[in-house]
Amino acid sequence: MLYAPESGDPRLTADVGMYAQTLLLAMAAYGVASCPQALLSFYADTVRETLGVTGGKLLFGISFGYADPAATINAVAVGREPMEETTRFHR
Ligand SMILES: Cc1cc2nc3c(=O)[nH]c(=O)nc-3n(C[C@H](O)[C@H](O)[C@H](O)COP(=O)(O)O)c2cc1C
Repeated sequence: MLYAPESGDPRLTADVGMYAQTLLLAMAAYGVASCPQALLSFYADTVRETLGVTGGKLLFGISFGYADPAATINAVAVGREPMEETTRFHR
């Protein structure tokens, strides 16, 4: 589970996102599959109670482990938006 600071400071929250991205890439590099899930933040109180976490704002959780290549679900590919849809270059 990744939490943002209580203050909601956008810069610090961005830091958490960058940490998460690095974690996801590191896991991929070591052959560990992962799945970030922001939906978990809709159940922040339940997560907090279950894990005994105090403070912070739950952003998302990351499930991880070794993927089963034979599992049908792991053959699903959601694809990506083309770069022209996500990125603008300014000179
Ligand atoms: C920060 C973050 C949060 C996400 N939260 C959800 C989520 O709550 N529910 C969901 O179905 N997918 C969510 N996704 C997308 C999945 O984690 C995953 O990226 C998607 O199923 C595509 O799989 P792939 O990245 O292996 O192509 C999230 C992705 C990111 C980066």
